[in-house]
Amino acid sequence: MKRDLLALTDLSAEEMQRLIDRAIELKARRQRGILDRPLTGKTVGLLFDKASTRTRVSFEAAANRLGGGSIFISAGDTQLARNEPIADTARVLGGYLDALVIRTYAQQTVADYARHAAVPVINALTDDYHPTQILADLMTVVEVRGGFEGLRIAWVGDGNNMANSWLNAAAVLGLELALACPEGYLPRTDLIEKARRASGAKVTLSVDPREAVAGADVVNTDVWASMGHEGQEAERATAFAGFTVDSALMALAAREAVVLHCLPAHRGEEITAEVLEGPQSAAWRQAENKMHMAAAILEWVVGGVET
Ligand code: CP
Ligand code: NVA
Repeated sequence: MKRDLLALTDLSAEEMQRLIDRAIELKARRQRGILDRPLTGKTVGLLFDKASTRTRVSFEAAANRLGGGSIFISAGDTQLARNEPIADTARVLGGYLDALVIRTYAQQTVADYARHAAVPVINALTDDYHPTQILADLMTVVEVRGGFEGLRIAWVGDGNNMANSWLNAAAVLGLELALACPEGYLPRTDLIEKARRASGAKVTLSVDPREAVAGADVVNTDVWASMGHEGQEAERATAFAGFTVDSALMALAAREAVVLHCLPAHRGEEITAEVLEGPQSAAWRQAENKMHMAAAILEWVVGGVET
């Protein structure tokens, strides 16, 4: 049966752990010059409705490095733009490709592709979730901290697709997650409740970034206005005043705390240049890890390797 990755809750804790371990292994193998080719003869399609630097290029590079090919499809240049139905597009593309990596607005859209395409569908970001990013972020935490058990993970900023996906990760893995979001910009309440009910998870929600960051081992932030929120920058800048991850805020975190940012970053808004470029920042390692995680995901869903 094909495996889709539409949300992190599609994975068990064991599957998530195995993807992280395999991504770390593939990274090490690549650094040793070993060529893995599990995608030989396979083609991955990337159908994107929104801009992307990292996710697009990391998936294309991963597909090519693993011996496969990739085709980038800007949705606006297809017949979708002239109202060809998703169901028809999905059936046709599924006949050409071995996997579809999709970046779009509504989560329902990736679910519709998964339903109608005969090949695995991977969510490369929707308004609700960014699962492949959080897998790369978890991999980064494992690399720099040896694991995520016993760590306090803070989220500071918008309750967006990234925050929702961290909640899903907390639900699957039983993480301690301390979120600070301004009033009116909270993550999805159902996801908060679900994560709170999960075994081993501890989820707290505050409107004060200092509360979330106090004693945190990992501090996450992201842009205040995600793709799709264009035009809300000014009102959001007002609502998010005091939510900048700066040195004063980081002073409240654990001494060895690391900072994650999925990028692109807006220096001086959600994070200062000093913190992003400073010794506690793992953002650049995190960005590179996207490719190793993309390789692990593609190998799993296309390469026929069991996890
Ligand atoms: N972090 C991330 O998803 O970046 P892109 O928007 O550049 O893909
Ligand atoms: N939350 C951001 C992430 C970009 C990678 C957005 O959706 O635009």
